Amino acid sequence: MTYDKFLQTAIEAARAAGQIMREQMHQTYRVQHKGPRDLLTEVDMMTEEAIVRILSARFPDHDILTEETEAPPRRSRYCWIIDPLDGTNNYAHGYPVFSTSIALTLDDESLVGVVYEPLRDWLFHARRGGGAYLNGEPLQVSAVGQLTEALITLDWSCDLQTRARVVAAIGRLADHVGTMRVAGSAALAPCYVAAGWCEGYFHLSLKPWDAAAAVLIAREAGATATTLEGRLWQLDDPDCLVSNGLLHEPLRGLIR
Ligand code: IPD
Ligand code: CA
Ligand code: CA
Repeated sequence: MTYDKFLQTAIEAARAAGQIMREQMHQTYRVQHKGPRDLLTEVDMMTEEAIVRILSARFPDHDILTEETEAPPRRSRYCWIIDPLDGTNNYAHGYPVFSTSIALTLDDESLVGVVYEPLRDWLFHARRGGGAYLNGEPLQVSAVGQLTEALITLDWSCDLQTRARVVAAIGRLADHVGTMRVAGSAALAPCYVAAGWCEGYFHLSLKPWDAAAAVLIAREAGATATTLEGRLWQLDDPDCLVSNGLLHEPLRGLIR
């Protein structure tokens, strides 16, 4: 029952953020640089405010960790981890791939995760131990077991040294995998692994808000998610490989 309340509230908040993203997309909004190659738009702030307003009204005792606001000291075992607009670069260019991500964690383990892609009205969700769903339909990772048939997705980082490591990994993968795509939303790409639309996704500089919901969704659909060293991925690990499981070890060997 409580899980349902957590999930329903996360869905409500994600849909509210998605509505703002759709409405603002063709309006004029301010865009600033947080750092080199790292954008912040007014829409990031508007969506964050909307989500926090809903969650804090419903769960005033829970902590909230969100990308655009400095985290207050922890006081609860429960913490909502939010990326209000994941794919800001895409959004600011009008490139139509972005999402909002909301997870509830208990002692740093995700209990509930919601990733919403507003332009397609695709809502991915999972509850720990309860499976993963897209618009209410159950998800399952793909059964592809050959690297040559695999579609692999990945993402860049703002940092140039990390980019060079990604480029090196692409070079090693190129001879072996079917094809590769750069995703542009780290919260969305593991959901696509969950849906069986691609076999793997890797990122070398994740933040907890990028993947707190998405990795739960992927795992609940049968995916494997580890660091490049092979340890189960946890919230504060920057590097992550999410795969359909069958191709995990060969992919990990090529990427690291
Ligand atoms: C970014 C996106 C992007 C990934 C970056 C993230 P943001 O998040 O997920 O795909 O490559 O590492 O920072 O800044 O748009 O929320
Ligand atoms: Ca992000
Ligand atoms: Ca963001």
